[in-house]
Amino acid sequence: MRPTYHLPEEIQQQIWKELLRATHDRHHGWRTPVLATASANGIVNARTVVLRRAKQVEGGGMLEIYTDRRSAKVAELVEQSSACLVFWSAKLQWQLRVRADMSIQTDGPYVESLWQIVKQTRAASDYLGYLPPGEPMPEIKSSDATDKPNIDDAALSDENEPENYFAVLTAQIKEMDWLELGLGRHRRARFAAGQCQWLCP
Ligand SMILES: Cc1cc2nc3c(=O)[nH]c(=O)nc-3n(C[C@H](O)[C@H](O)[C@H](O)COP(=O)(O)O)c2cc1C
Repeated sequence: MRPTYHLPEEIQQQIWKELLRATHDRHHGWRTPVLATASANGIVNARTVVLRRAKQVEGGGMLEIYTDRRSAKVAELVEQSSACLVFWSAKLQWQLRVRADMSIQTDGPYVESLWQIVKQTRAASDYLGYLPPGEPMPEIKSSDATDKPNIDDAALSDENEPENYFAVLTAQIKEMDWLELGLGRHRRARFAAGQCQWLCP
């Protein structure tokens, strides 16, 4: 049986425990939130991402996501840094909506240190694509397919280290909206600026 948390502080602590757990546990429902963004002209967009890091600090916290710096989400976040991350765990029956101010890091010692780790993994190819994400694929003639390496192989087999497009998105949390689905009743609470407010679900 799942424990029930009654005090807002207990719920908030548990939310952070689950966020931390999700950064390590591939099977955790909160491992893959949906990141929603909006561009300056009001067009909205949303996509699944992987939660890489979670850190609670006094009065707030931060979350981290890795991406290709050429992706649409990065351009959208440059235009409009306010974004929303939506998490759902069927096991916990918890939804978490995080309103955040997003920043993008594409270089510097921190990004480089992470890249040194990521580049040793299979995920490295996510950040080495010859063409940007969302770009139409060039037409490959069947005669080309046999005697030419594919685009990713070409990038990886370069004698010099291939250019990477690895970027780190950091979400500075402004507000968390937690919803628990229960059998008889649901519970909802908002955590913002160090305060908790129970809300009608
Ligand atoms: C389970 C899953 C996890 C994903 N994780 C990431 C991720 O961590 N970072 C990322 O940039 N894209 C990730 N993607 C791909 C994105 O959902 C999206 O297709 C891609 O980033 C392009 O999005 P954009 O054009 O809106 O920027 C993931 C997709 C799935 C299905």
